[in-house]
Amino acid sequence: MCGRSQRSALRVTPSMLTTSPLASVSATKPDFEKEIKPIFQSRCMPCHFQGGKVYDKLPFDKPETISKLGTKLFTRIKDEKEQRMIREFLAAQ
Ligand code: HEC
Repeated sequence: MCGRSQRSALRVTPSMLTTSPLASVSATKPDFEKEIKPIFQSRCMPCHFQGGKVYDKLPFDKPETISKLGTKLFTRIKDEKEQRMIREFLAAQ
């Protein structure tokens, strides 16, 4: 029952420390920091950014929030080019 005293501390493997070779190919996936975040920064400040009232719930400086909300964002982001960019970002997740 109490046999959990093994010390298997092999948690970090070398492959976790190197970046994926795919990262350098970067076919169509928009870069979150450079292409996605600025869309929200220009429109959704200050509420969804640090210090804003919904930052705790929906921080738009985190890619996870954008992935989670997905096309719900399009009720507020109406610009076609921006929607396309966000769609590409979502598709590449
Ligand atoms: C004036 C402050 C403010 C700004 C600016 C703002 N929001 Fe929000 N947003 C809120 C608040 C407050 C909530 C939380 C409502 C709740 O608690 O359900 C929210 C919730 C949301 C939600 C989740 C609720 C839903 O409708 O599904 C989305 C998506 C959203 N905002 C998108 C945006 C986008 C995209 C922008 C920029 C284009 C934006 N918001 C700008 C205040 C703001």
